Amino acid sequence: MKNARLAGIGYYVPEKVVTNDDLSKIMNTTDEWIVERTGIKERHYADMDKEKNYIMGAKAAEKAIEMAGTNAQEIDLIVYATLSADYVFPGSGVLLQKELGCKNIGAIDVRAQCSGFVYGLSIAEQYIKTGKYKNILLVGSEIHSIGLDYSDHGRHIAVIFGDGAGAAVLQPTEAKDKGVLSTHLHSEGEHAERLAVLDPGFYKKDRFDIEMTKPGGGFYPVMDGQFVFKNAVTRFPEVIMEALQANDYTPQDLDLLIPHQANLRISQFVQKKMGLAEDKVYNTIMKYGNTTAASIPIGLCEAHAEGKVREGDLICLAAFGSGFTWASALIRW
Ligand code: COA
Repeated sequence: MKNARLAGIGYYVPEKVVTNDDLSKIMNTTDEWIVERTGIKERHYADMDKEKNYIMGAKAAEKAIEMAGTNAQEIDLIVYATLSADYVFPGSGVLLQKELGCKNIGAIDVRAQCSGFVYGLSIAEQYIKTGKYKNILLVGSEIHSIGLDYSDHGRHIAVIFGDGAGAAVLQPTEAKDKGVLSTHLHSEGEHAERLAVLDPGFYKKDRFDIEMTKPGGGFYPVMDGQFVFKNAVTRFPEVIMEALQANDYTPQDLDLLIPHQANLRISQFVQKKMGLAEDKVYNTIMKYGNTTAASIPIGLCEAHAEGKVREGDLICLAAFGSGFTWASALIRW
């Protein structure tokens, strides 16, 4: 069996930058509150006249495809991770297939929220290992800005999220000790409703009711912030250690940890708990907010562009989020 390597990576964020001060003009918040609690200074919001979820995904994908030295016709599977799909159904994977002009290949949509990219990586990796596919396009893309409750009721959530997309092309590598070394997936559905958008779901007879769209209604995300925080700072170190131990490594062997960008305070907590130096954990949340399934590939691309992901480096990707789901991947670049 051959390992899968990330032969190409790419990302796209919308042009429009929304600072904390911009938010404070449309809702009851302050730059001070947001920076102190989350570390976020600004985020990007999509222009819905031209930037849809799958269009941002396609822009990120085009860069990853180019870097991998291939083309859309050669892609033999799409794995698309998002919680903000363009339609209720079908998933955005098929829209990406059309947009890129890929052949009539399979398109798998992954619903694992903030862990979506790592879940998707795990799926793609298995198909490469078994030899079934040789050129898999993995995308994480999110449009949060049009789905947030900017009233007092939702302000603790609205300030956190941003829009963006990231992608990777996975190919087999001849090198035995390179590429994705292992992936580790977990979930705990007991806490599904602690971080969720419930409506308009298929779980009740009256799927839609205008009350849902009012502040506090089920149309908007709900989040028990402190409960999510506590779980995140436990699950992140657990799943990172799981990946390291599975490959006989310790935290000191890591060249870079790229955690899902939930909250800068969570990343800092994890860094300290694991005894990692500050420069071993890569954060982008200050600029982009939490972009859910897109945050890890965006971080990977920026770290790579800055020369912080080099040939032979040991890289860990780790995520925690709605579900709850959490996951990690250990990669020898
Ligand atoms: N601006 C100003 N004040 C705000 C605010 C905002 N955007 N959001 C909430 N507040 C207020 C609250 O109303 C509350 O006021 P009160 O004390 O007068 O009642 C106070 O700030 C504290 O609110 P609380 O929601 O308890 O804040 P917190 O300390 O838990 O911080 C989060 C909120 C969201 C930053 C924090 O819980 C968190 O980051 N949790 C993890 C979330 C996460 O990572 N989610 C994604 C997972 S993938």
